[in-house]
Amino acid sequence: MTSSFARAFVCCFAVVLSAQQQPSPSAPSGQPTGEKLAPYYPTPESIVDKMLEFGQLRAGEKMFDLGSGDGRIVIMAAQKYHADATGIELDHDLYLSSGAKLQKLGLQKTARIVYGDILKQDYSSADLITVYLLPESNLKARPMLEAQLKKGTRIVAHDFGIGGWTPVKTLTIPDDGEGRSHTLFLYIR
Ligand SMILES: C[S@@+](CC[C@H](N)C(=O)[O-])C[C@H]1O[C@@H](n2cnc3c(N)ncnc32)[C@H](O)[C@@H]1O
Repeated sequence: MTSSFARAFVCCFAVVLSAQQQPSPSAPSGQPTGEKLAPYYPTPESIVDKMLEFGQLRAGEKMFDLGSGDGRIVIMAAQKYHADATGIELDHDLYLSSGAKLQKLGLQKTARIVYGDILKQDYSSADLITVYLLPESNLKARPMLEAQLKKGTRIVAHDFGIGGWTPVKTLTIPDDGEGRSHTLFLYIR
């Protein structure tokens, strides 16, 4: 199931990505430019919890979700795990709606969404990174993560591993409650 889903994820969006991969040369000032590294495809809530548990997230730790979508990973990290959580999101509507959710939930002291490009942020303080991007996008992020992450930072990748890195553990969840299986990869720098 994972592999067919993974294939569908990659194939269905290859066309979208090829059209979107060029940074917009005409972006108005204040609007971040960047390559669309994956379409919006949210992680089911049950899998979000597994990702944070698998990443051994502890209270007070700093976590970053690379491409935070509707903010669900950031929200659970702050609300349930009491972490300091940051999402990075390039899509303006998702940035606005997820930021509004954090406000509504009263999480603004411990959680935030940065409107920006994953590849242009500082992750040197991260204890945990979560990522649900396409395989080639993970490869693009890898050199930056290698340069920035402190020793011991954990990285949890959903469904697509980080090419060239060896996971310390993998976890397959055969059914997310909707009949889809998921694989998580845990790396430690
Ligand atoms: C597959 S979704 C994952 C969303 C969320 N992390 C989750 O697991 O539910 C990937 C997200 O990355 C965002 N994204 C893609 N390229 C980006 C970039 N260069 N910088 C920031 N966000 C990006 C997309 O807009 C989308 O919301």
